[in-house]
This record gives sequence, C-alpha cells and structure tokens, in this order.
Amino acid sequence: MSVYLDHAATTPMVDVAVSAMTTQLVHLGNPSSLHTPGRASRKAIEQARESLALEIGCAPSEIIFTASGTEANNTALKGLYWKGKSTGRNVVVISSIEHHAILDPAEWLSDHEGAEVISIGVTKDGVLDISQLTQLLTHRGDEIAVISVMHSNNETGVLQSISEVVALASLHSIPVHCDGVQSFKKVPLSFSELGLTALSLSAHKIGGPLGVGILVLKRGYEIPALLHGGGQEREIRSGTLNAPAIVGFAAAASSQYPSTKIQPLRDELIAGILKVVPDAYINGGGDRLPGIVNATFPGTESDTLLLLLDAQGIAASTGSACSAGVQRPSHVLLAMGHTDKSARSSLRFSLGATSTREEIDTVISVLPGVIERARAANLR
Ligand SMILES: Cc1ncc(COP(=O)(O)O)c(C=O)c1O
Repeated sequence: MSVYLDHAATTPMVDVAVSAMTTQLVHLGNPSSLHTPGRASRKAIEQARESLALEIGCAPSEIIFTASGTEANNTALKGLYWKGKSTGRNVVVISSIEHHAILDPAEWLSDHEGAEVISIGVTKDGVLDISQLTQLLTHRGDEIAVISVMHSNNETGVLQSISEVVALASLHSIPVHCDGVQSFKKVPLSFSELGLTALSLSAHKIGGPLGVGILVLKRGYEIPALLHGGGQEREIRSGTLNAPAIVGFAAAASSQYPSTKIQPLRDELIAGILKVVPDAYINGGGDRLPGIVNATFPGTESDTLLLLLDAQGIAASTGSACSAGVQRPSHVLLAMGHTDKSARSSLRFSLGATSTREEIDTVISVLPGVIERARAANLR
C-alpha cells in the first residue's frame, strides 16, 4: 500500500478543479483581447475572481493573480518595503519561522536594497513572541515599512494570532502582510476581518493546480511591480492571465475541506506515534492546523527516516529546505529551541482530503521497525 502524508507540500487536485480546468484549457482567447473569444476567457477569469473573493473575504478587485505563493510573497514584501522606503521607513519585520519565500526576499532586501530586517522570535511552542513585537513597535514603530507574519507554519501547523499583530501595527500605521498559504480553506481566514493589507495564497495546497497563486492587496493600496509588461492586475503583475489554472483554483476553493475527517485522523496519528515510540514528542503547541504533525524521534536522522519510510511506500517530509542533497536543520525547529541534533531527528507528516485510517494504521505499524533501524544506522 502506498501512503501519501506530504499534503502540505502539495495535495491531489480535487475532481471539480480538474474538470473546470480541462474545460477551460481548450478555450482559445487571450483574456486581454477585445474580441469575442478573448472576452469569453476574461469572463471566466472574472467569475473565478468573484467566487474566490467570497471565499477569501475580500473584494474581487483586491485579488491579484500570480504564478505561485512564492511570487505573491515576493511581490508583497518587496512592494510594501519599497512603498514604505519612499516615506523614510527602512525596517522590515518578519517572524523567525517564516517560509523561505519570505525569509529569502527579506534577506535580498537587506543585501541589495539596504533594508534593516528584524526577526521576531517564537516560544518553544512555535507561537510568535508578541511581547518582543510590542517592544519593537514602541521603540521603532515609525521606522517600520512592513510586518510579515505567516497565518500558520508549514512545518508545525502552529497558528499565529494575526489579528493581534494587525492591531499593534495599526497603532503605527504599518501595513501587515500575511502568508496564508497553509491556512486557506483549512481554518477560518478572512482578509477583511483580519484587517490585513496583503495576503498570499496558493492553489496547489488546497486541491487546485500548481503554478497559480493570489496576492490579495487592499483596495487603493498600490505597490511597485516586480513584473512589467502588459499592465494586467492593476499594473502590479503583468503577464497573460492563466485562465485554466485560475478557474481550477476557484473550483478547488469552492469545495469543502474535510477538517472533521482529517483532524481525528491526525489525532490518531499523534496518539499512535507516542504509543509505539514512547520517547518521541510532538512539536508545536496551541492552536494548530488540522492536518500537520511534526514529531521528533530522538537518536535518529530525519534523512534516514525518510528513506526507510519511502522504502515502505510512505511519503513524509522534513518540511525544511534541502539544498544540494544536504539536509539542513529546520530553522523553524531551531527557533523553537531545538538543538541542531534534535531538529535533525524530526519529521513532518501532513494529511489531506484523501487521507485514510488505513494510511495512518500502516504508518503506526511500520514505525517501530523504522525507528529501530534508523537508530542503529545512527550509531554506526
Ligand atoms: C507557508 C508557505 N508559504 C509559501 C509557500 C510557497 O507556495 P508556492 O509553492 O505556491 O510557491 C509554501 C509552499 O510550501 C508554504 O508552505
């Protein structure tokens, strides 16, 4: 039996998205063209925009389609920084557990644009240290161009209190961007209720196609573009719109995420792990996404665990970046107080709409043997 527990990396497309997308794929017409076929493509996009806006809690005109969550994050962080810089604000504030699609543009802004980047820490449970943020704002609030904090973490699933961040930031008129890629459709998330300036989303995490994302940008809030050309999407993101992918995104977003099925499976997985590997522990506390489990298995190396699990037909992940085949310890777990060693002994299992009890049972049944072999390999 093959077991897929890497839904936070990417999850299968839902049927309605496949059918909406394939229907649109055979439609000719550039949505920017004025002729009849072009207008038909435009109409399909605008209908998708309206239905996505309802799901996101924003106005249709606040949606800017991008090619990924990564692009949405880059456009927001760089654009909001440049906008702030033009009024004398040079500081970028992020959390220490952001995805690389925020960490790396922040580092780029520091290296190439002279930005001062300040990273706010997290507690051992992976929750943003609000007191550190409050102190920073009290002392340097009028220097900050943008604050970017993720809605939930992709490695641990821990949810952050974005409304608290927005309330603090608003005292100093600082725009807040939120990476909502892992949260959208899985937990309540409304752009207008949170009072955000910008929000990033991605279709392939919710059963839509790869290669399409959204930057929600508050009405009347214009930022410099990264891509220049035909002037699409409020001149913030030029490029011919990908009508099939956008229509597929909207179809996926209008289908229900089965939290009530996934959360109990997640809880069974946690209970099973702790039962068969008594010294294992779960990372992350407080409110969490229904589908992510991050566990540390002392005495193992996560690379070895991944390979041993893969040999049994089980796909899991470390959730952290792998460069040139060398696994670096997760910056998220390090920020939560892990040592290099314990961070390197951790795995992420992520569940999705297609997850089943049989899959969980399979993992639990092979886990003791896998851990034993991984520990033996580690001693060699
Ligand atoms: C929290 C978070 N932000 C951003 C991204 C990037 O999204 P995309 O794959 O659409 O570029 C991911 C994907 O793993 C993510 O988990």
